[in-house]
Amino acid sequence: MQLFHGNIVYSKDRTSLAVHQDSWLGVENGTVAGIWPRVPEQYAGAPVTELGQGVLIPAFSDLHVHAPQYLNRGLEMDLLLQDWLEQCTFPMEARFRDLDFAKRVYDAFVDDMVANGTLHACVFGSVHRPATGYLLERMDMLGLKGFVGKVNMDRNASSDLLETVEDSLKETEAFLEAYAQNRHTKPILTPRFAPTCTGELIAGLGRLGKKYGVGVQTHLVESHWEAETARALFPERSCDTEIYERAGLMDNGPVVGAHFIFPTEADTQILLRHGGYAVHCPDATVSIIAGIMETGALLDRGVRIALGSDISGGHHVGVYTQAGRAVQLSKLKQFYEPAGNRKLSFPEAFFMATRQGGALFGKVGAFEPGYAFDALIIDGLHDEARALTPEQAVERFCYIGTPANIRARYLDGERI
Ligand code: GUN
Ligand code: FE
Repeated sequence: MQLFHGNIVYSKDRTSLAVHQDSWLGVENGTVAGIWPRVPEQYAGAPVTELGQGVLIPAFSDLHVHAPQYLNRGLEMDLLLQDWLEQCTFPMEARFRDLDFAKRVYDAFVDDMVANGTLHACVFGSVHRPATGYLLERMDMLGLKGFVGKVNMDRNASSDLLETVEDSLKETEAFLEAYAQNRHTKPILTPRFAPTCTGELIAGLGRLGKKYGVGVQTHLVESHWEAETARALFPERSCDTEIYERAGLMDNGPVVGAHFIFPTEADTQILLRHGGYAVHCPDATVSIIAGIMETGALLDRGVRIALGSDISGGHHVGVYTQAGRAVQLSKLKQFYEPAGNRKLSFPEAFFMATRQGGALFGKVGAFEPGYAFDALIIDGLHDEARALTPEQAVERFCYIGTPANIRARYLDGERI
């Protein structure tokens, strides 16, 4: 048993924070035992970490991030999606054929995620199995809870990235076989998006998903161009999301759809039917997509919305910055398109970044009994001449925080 004493904040539910001041949180066998106003008798004598001016919060979950784009963050941000993919993103991803290069980038990427308090992530690799395998192993070795996917593409990409259907499926199956039994970081199927995948490839991935019991991550209705291209390439499907549903890709594990900015009613119904995630990536959507998700309306219909950094469509590794940005974008959406849109509250945005995103990984992202003690102590956010409440410190962190404001990180109860 270890104890933490001071101010503790987590999401109670979608709209409210649980705030415990001057309280005691107990951790036993890596999980939360409880939060109490006084030390329970049986725990007197257990080691205590004093939070002081700091606040204890759950570690963050990034549900959409491209590890091989790490070196591109903050570059070529004046391009839009299609040009950005062709001119900036595909040339960088092609370099991950070189495993030594990949190792250096992925070590730095994973360190940066941890520095930023992201201890759970759903990650795109590249089409290359060896490099993507290294990334998965690296995250697993550190105990990070995650899903990592080898990307599949068999059309509309540069020739140095395109795979044949046979190779793509063979490499993907080898990837699943190698890691399906992992404890912390597991494989996930990753057809990049409809424009770069044939129906034959997606059908083959559906068979693999069923055989190995693994889920899927992709990009869904992210721009008008993407949605129109999907409809033109798959005329027998009524919408983007149906392409994956009909292939049986949404029945075997988690379903994680990035962006979901221009869903039709059919897209939303399908996502709801499978309990899939729509991942909001605020920085990426303003930089390379120029569309804003209808977060308020989708949340009110029960869609699970989590947050993603979408490196390098987005430029901030820290997904906490995206919680602040999600509130900002919801106000812009409401201002320019008032019909049906509403602004988000900060507790809603924090919920997406912690408890809702964390649910993809099990009992993760909150401090109720039985939840993994994956936590951060944030600090240095107070004012000189005025006391901030714990929830104010958390909100400020999501707007102006940096890794220097994270005093400590815990994973399954261990300080890392
Ligand atoms: N759509 C297809 N590929 C990508 C990508 O790498 N990033 C983003 N944001 N959208 C995509
Ligand atoms: Fe993306």
